[in-house]
Amino acid sequence: MGPEARAAITAVGHYLPETRLTNQDLSEMVDTNDAWIRARTGIEERRILTDEGKGTSYMAARAGQEILEKRGISADEIDAIIIATVTPDMAFPATSCLVQAELGASNAWGFDLSAACSGFLFALNTGAGLIESGRAAKVLVIGSDKMSSITDYTDRKTCVLFGDAAAGVLLEAAPDGYGLIDSVLRVDGDGWESLCMLGGGSRHPATHDTVDNKMHYIYQDGRAVFKVAVKGMADVAAEIMERNQLTGDDVRYLVPHQANQRIIDAVARRMGLGIDRVMLNISRYGNTTAATIPLCLHDWEDQLKKGDKIVIAAFGGGFTWGASYLRWSYSHLPKEQSHGG
Ligand code: ACO
Repeated sequence: MGPEARAAITAVGHYLPETRLTNQDLSEMVDTNDAWIRARTGIEERRILTDEGKGTSYMAARAGQEILEKRGISADEIDAIIIATVTPDMAFPATSCLVQAELGASNAWGFDLSAACSGFLFALNTGAGLIESGRAAKVLVIGSDKMSSITDYTDRKTCVLFGDAAAGVLLEAAPDGYGLIDSVLRVDGDGWESLCMLGGGSRHPATHDTVDNKMHYIYQDGRAVFKVAVKGMADVAAEIMERNQLTGDDVRYLVPHQANQRIIDAVARRMGLGIDRVMLNISRYGNTTAATIPLCLHDWEDQLKKGDKIVIAAFGGGFTWGASYLRWSYSHLPKEQSHGG
């Protein structure tokens, strides 16, 4: 592969915990109700990883295993593993090391990438760089978050939003004209206070006070984030379309981060896309942070066809946001045939 090679997604995998947390369940825990949650967010239920002692790496490794099986390759063929997460198993070692060990990916290096709800998008672009430069031939990029581990289930403003999941992709060199074509990626650290978890890091290490003050939970100023998320996501999606001379008719699917259905609707409107061309599964899983976008790709994989033009868009804490344009590189094939090419 030459330096001009592009990176393509060649397999998708996922993991969803079995336990469901419905709007009804939440209405028995805090002062909320199904009608409010559906109308304001589009969420009906989420999955929660309840198994004692299991964290983000457990879910990520299972998503990784599904990717390997679908592509028909062994773990030792993987060159690098990038895990996008804001809920690592531990501050260190990196969750990617734990996933590497669990998969038995004996030839891989890897690292974690922290960009909240833009984590998968940023990791996808980072992994693509390894492929494009020729430094790696097969890169696993997995978004995995156990949001329930940092959610305050007495705070109705945040606890209705989040769920747990992992999903990811394999990246390989793309056939000519396919793969990741263009991206617009942004951060704005001035917005950090609107969406953060204050405690447990080096600024406020865990103490009795940080626990008493609920500093180990997600804090979000929902209204403030909503405004910048709509504008941020719509702006980068419009920019990527303009730069690549794409009209609404050209885009087969928008794959948006699933934080709030109203944000997604606004972005789709700005792009001139009907709702039939928007991947939307927030009703079933809520906001699974770094997992939402690959979880959509997984749910829609059977309907994707080689050459489909896809725009991915995300917005998250940091602030972090961005959009990528890619041409899908395979049609779903019967198991005995191979992917790619
Ligand atoms: N049930 C019932 N009422 C509620 C609930 C609830 N679960 N939560 C809040 N309310 C109330 C509020 O208290 C408020 O009441 P008040 O007017 O008496 O004060 C009222 O509902 C409206 O509250 P808002 O916060 O203004 O509601 P909004 O319509 O903004 O919806 C939401 C809140 C869903 C959080 C929305 O602001 C949002 O989606 N924000 C953006 C989220 C996002 O994109 N995050 C980025 C990605 S996440 C990441 O990076 C980890």
